[in-house]
Amino acid sequence: MPKVRTAVLISGRGSNMVSLVEASKAKDYPADINLVISNKPNAAGLSKAKDLGVMALAIDHTDFSNRREFETALDAVLREAKTELICCAGFMRVLTPWFVSRWEGRLLNIHPSLLPKYKGLNTHQRALEAGDSEHGCTVHYVTAELDGGDTILQHKIDILENDTPETLSSRLLPLELTLFPKALSIVAKTYRT
Ligand code: GRF
Repeated sequence: MPKVRTAVLISGRGSNMVSLVEASKAKDYPADINLVISNKPNAAGLSKAKDLGVMALAIDHTDFSNRREFETALDAVLREAKTELICCAGFMRVLTPWFVSRWEGRLLNIHPSLLPKYKGLNTHQRALEAGDSEHGCTVHYVTAELDGGDTILQHKIDILENDTPETLSSRLLPLELTLFPKALSIVAKTYRT
């Protein structure tokens, strides 16, 4: 069975993308990362992807006059590459219902909270302010509702007494890096069945 052709969308440093690419190089991993696209031309992740031998390019959202035009260009590049699944990994653009409907069920995102808690930004700060005892990360399907699609996998950590947004973020990142490849593997395994 050929590996499922997967694109990763990024906006920044790309550590989740690197983890997905490295996992996908295993012979028995069911997905292959063929393409990395950043909406920011200066994203550090672009050169990391190229160093790993993956085609990487920027589609700068500021070159377009509205979201729909940006997403039309993004959609065209993804289809040209014969993309089957898309992973949003630190991709900081909200996708419109138009784009989501074209890829629904094939579009995954990683979010740094225990969804449905703390959709949107500043998740570590919000978990601390709420006095939560647990925090975590979630890989979920993308739907038209921001951070609202079905959960694929979740990982929990305890919040410690002296945690700050920074300590929480740095304790969570290694868990994100293992969670996303596991979730993609689950989705890719069932993709052709
Ligand atoms: C991750 O914490 C992800 O959960 C969040 O943005 C961060 C992206 O980091 N949405 P990176 O670009 O994968 O290093």
